[in-house]
Amino acid sequence: MMTVAHKVADAVLKKIQRSPFYYKRYNNVLQYYINRTYIRYARECSKRYAATHPANFPPSPLLTEPAVCFRGAIDPQKARAFSEKMTELIDRNDRSIFRDPSIEGMQVVVERPLETLGMGLLDVLRNPGVDAGLKTFFRGEYAVVMAVALRSLPSQKLVSSWLWHSDCYPPHTCKLFLHLTPADAETGATEFMSLADTMAYRGAGYFGFGNERIANIEDFAREKGLPYRPFHNNVEAGDATIFNMNFFHRAVSPRKGFRDVLELFLIPSPIPWEEHLKQHADYVRNPPSGYPKDPNNLQAAAVRSTMM
Ligand SMILES: [Fe+2]
Repeated sequence: MMTVAHKVADAVLKKIQRSPFYYKRYNNVLQYYINRTYIRYARECSKRYAATHPANFPPSPLLTEPAVCFRGAIDPQKARAFSEKMTELIDRNDRSIFRDPSIEGMQVVVERPLETLGMGLLDVLRNPGVDAGLKTFFRGEYAVVMAVALRSLPSQKLVSSWLWHSDCYPPHTCKLFLHLTPADAETGATEFMSLADTMAYRGAGYFGFGNERIANIEDFAREKGLPYRPFHNNVEAGDATIFNMNFFHRAVSPRKGFRDVLELFLIPSPIPWEEHLKQHADYVRNPPSGYPKDPNNLQAAAVRSTMM
């Protein structure tokens, strides 16, 4: 049971982590030791890369933009074939299919997609533009530590990721969406907010973590005199998006049909992703939810990403 002293310490820490000084610096409200661990690790990986490569990276757009699109990252026909395979697995209710009861009817998950759909999904990382975009963000090599395929379905419900929120991942991490079906305003493109708007909402007291999330953020914006200007990127099957999930965003249900994506979670790495994957195949096959507490030791406990 939490003692009074622990409760007070917890409240003080929460206040510090939600102060502008802290969230503007880290773009999250995680514990300091996690931010420090990831920043140090990213720096070491980047140094190691620079020792053997002429690394002269421009600033990554992902530092100031929530999402960057890469057109035709894989062959659109291959992307559609992965989506068809998802349909096949869902239709026969394969063991890899998971339906989270809390978002019943909104999303179907295909687990272990690198096995169930195929390693060819990772061709997205062999696209020179995507690889360069990721290397620019990581200032060196990167590794895949989680892969999941998601099918979004038409629904009127607004819960969980369908509410405006920011995830709470460590710095120097990002997600990649490989789009297996087209997505636009009709067919379920994720909506984002800019860095400036994300910070303005936090400044007004909206962090969107856990059960603080609300559906109608427009009322909050009006009340606080904030701009409400979400945006999305229209994408085709085969396009990829790299995504800084600590900016405000929300999933949008398609109005008809479905929207399929492969989602990869990426962290800095001292070695190329293919080598890292070979060394950590068992972890990546069945990773715990959240992110590794220590990116240099994947066997250490994982931390949930949005329960702040
Ligand atoms: Fe999210």
